[in-house]
Amino acid sequence: MKKGVQQIFSQIVPTYELINHLLTWGLDIHWRRRAARLAGSRQGSCWLDICTGTGEMAFNIAKVWAKNISHKDAKSNKLGKNSPSRISSGLSSLRLTTDERRKKNNSKGHLQSFRSIPALVVGLDFCWEMLHQARRSKTSRMALPLVFIQADVRHLPFAAGALAGVSISFATRNLGLTPETLLPFFREIYRVLRPGGLFINLETSQPRPAWLRQLFHTYVRFAVNSLGRKISGSKVGYAYLASTIPRFLSPEELSEVLQLAGFSRVKVIKLWLGVAAIHLAFKDYSVARTFELFSQ
Ligand SMILES: C[S@@+](CC[C@H](N)C(=O)[O-])C[C@H]1O[C@@H](n2cnc3c(N)ncnc32)[C@H](O)[C@@H]1O
Repeated sequence: MKKGVQQIFSQIVPTYELINHLLTWGLDIHWRRRAARLAGSRQGSCWLDICTGTGEMAFNIAKVWAKNISHKDAKSNKLGKNSPSRISSGLSSLRLTTDERRKKNNSKGHLQSFRSIPALVVGLDFCWEMLHQARRSKTSRMALPLVFIQADVRHLPFAAGALAGVSISFATRNLGLTPETLLPFFREIYRVLRPGGLFINLETSQPRPAWLRQLFHTYVRFAVNSLGRKISGSKVGYAYLASTIPRFLSPEELSEVLQLAGFSRVKVIKLWLGVAAIHLAFKDYSVARTFELFSQ
């Protein structure tokens, strides 16, 4: 049986994207694209988008990566855009053990082939209805290296150090509203990242001037509650979502929690007067090693 947050999200799937776009005046589309471009600049072998919902963020990242691959293909004039053989060669590379991969990279001439491994983007959520919508609307739209899986962020089904990057958009508030409740989630994300890996957190934030913050909270209370309820038909769902925005952490507080979880070089990009923000956080090589030693 579904409980709490999972049940809320299962009830608002059909109109979820539309309400987001209306409430943010379409800005959420640009913000996700901007975050996805940041993920594209660090193309790796496997990227995970947690709390993916209907898969918009995962889809944007996969699009950026597919574009990068096709640019490389055009340059090297080798395989075509999103070629299935290229994708399957990448998947088989993912199945290599760390030792095999290291050997492959060390041997002369293999640097080029390692660089050409195409990306795999995984969207993860614990709400089956959201995933069903994601698979229906995103996976079939074009040949992208994109898959969706059902799991809880509390226990990510990946080995330590397995992923090049992790992203989350407009869902951190659902994981926790205080440093104490968020910390275990960030530690779990940190665990699955490889050293040098990147975490991108896109979330609503708290604008700095008090008057603007109050204006923003008033808008959220009225618009999210009334518009969300009217369009989705879910009174509880949008009352819950509206209540989490004013209670969420400031960008500085969120940066501190990320650092507590082990991340370093935390950067904040404020969006639209600070009503939203992108946090970038890295799992540094040296810090990762120190954390490993202490946790042994
Ligand atoms: C507000 S939606 C965000 C969806 C999407 N990322 C976006 O940008 O619109 C939050 C999503 O997080 C999922 N979620 C919340 N807590 C979760 C958890 N512990 N594990 C997995 N998914 C979770 C919900 O099922 C829901 O689909």
